[in-house]
Amino acid sequence: MEPNTGNLRRETWGSRTAFVLAAAGSAIGLGNIWRFPYLTGQNGGAAFVLIYLFIVLLIGLPVMMAEVSLGRRTRRNPVGAFEGAAPNSAWRNVGVLGVITGFAILSYYSVVAGWTLAYTLKAVTGAFTHLTDPGETGRLFEHFVGDPQSVLTYHALFMALTVAVVMGGVRRGIERWTFILMPILFLMLILLVLRAVTLEGAGQGIAFYLKPDFSKVTTATFLAALGQAFFSLSLGMGAMITYGSYLSQSEDVVFTTAAVSLFDTVIALLAGLVIFPALFSVGGAEPTAGPKLVFVVLPAIFQRIPFGGLFGGVFFVLLAVAALTSAISLLEVCVAYMTDEKGWTRHKACFLAGGVAFILGIPAALSTGASTFLSSIPLLQMGFLDLMDMLFGNVALTVGGFLLCVFVGWRWSPEEALAAVMEGSAYPSLGRPWFLLIRYLCPLAIGTILLHLLMKLLV
Ligand code: PFF
Repeated sequence: MEPNTGNLRRETWGSRTAFVLAAAGSAIGLGNIWRFPYLTGQNGGAAFVLIYLFIVLLIGLPVMMAEVSLGRRTRRNPVGAFEGAAPNSAWRNVGVLGVITGFAILSYYSVVAGWTLAYTLKAVTGAFTHLTDPGETGRLFEHFVGDPQSVLTYHALFMALTVAVVMGGVRRGIERWTFILMPILFLMLILLVLRAVTLEGAGQGIAFYLKPDFSKVTTATFLAALGQAFFSLSLGMGAMITYGSYLSQSEDVVFTTAAVSLFDTVIALLAGLVIFPALFSVGGAEPTAGPKLVFVVLPAIFQRIPFGGLFGGVFFVLLAVAALTSAISLLEVCVAYMTDEKGWTRHKACFLAGGVAFILGIPAALSTGASTFLSSIPLLQMGFLDLMDMLFGNVALTVGGFLLCVFVGWRWSPEEALAAVMEGSAYPSLGRPWFLLIRYLCPLAIGTILLHLLMKLLV
């Protein structure tokens, strides 16, 4: 049967590099530089990193290949893609779950991205310069997130930027940014690593980060690593289905997804190699400090490099841009759904989705210190932002990834799945191993971890 190709005149990427860059732009973001280090800190360091690497290779990469090829084959948004591959079935709901998840993640992602915008300004105006005691960078952070007006203003600003870029369309909006700015971010990270590992007392941090202590590993470690792999690689909610839908049939899915996963993982590893040596050397926070970790540690290290204010300003701008290219993909999933399936104009879809995500982000923005009201509600004690991140950034993505594996491994026919992933590929021998992973290992591993979580919640 011919696949349902939806909108045949769909915009496609300018070149293979353009797809790799856009997908890498989606993958590389706050997940690498903000979320990966703090989760590593909370989950015991090196053992978490090692588990994470295995998961990226054995689950993340195969799932990314599956998402991209499903999108490329059907040429549709996530909902339409499931509908096209399995017409009139309940599978389209997996796409719907993805759209909702993307939307929910965008709401609080924009809040944290707003923090990076604010920190850009703080760095260049010299707000970090006089903070000699490492504890002071922590107080600066608490003071900032405790001010409702600032956090909401930067949240609004970031969401407006995201809406503006997505409104411009996929190619003009996304390709350009990633092409120029991501390599600069990479170089700056390398410089920061060099500075961090040569600080006095950095060795302890390097050991925490690179010497595994498996006694600290529990099921929670696996769930956190799995959720982080999905979050960081932009999997489990259809972002890669959507980006794959703009990819030409003559491109190589194996090569492109491997490149994206590699870039993404290297950036996350480098971020850890900045944060932990610096943390143990200059102090200012515990490894378990959670979401505030990088915002407390980075300013402290900028102080220890020449022209640190300027360097810090550029770094936070690039982090904001990395966050922007990720937020674009979160919004694009909702917008592609609304324009493809509901017939809305791009403008209307962008405004509405961005507006509602902004409103949903308000409680998250206020939950980190600006309002005590939310945390007085029993269920919200852990903080609304953390709760949203756990429910959507971790659990919903993992469930979405699980269902995708079941779909591609068992519902789509093996011939169809293999043809979709191998079309245009220079590595046909990898087709079978990939299919075996998607059919057996991935759903089994993800399912086991989710089952453990469920039992823990019930007991
Ligand atoms: N991968 C992005 C990051 O690491 O910051 C976040 C993200 C984007 C998650 C798109 C999921 C997604 F679909």
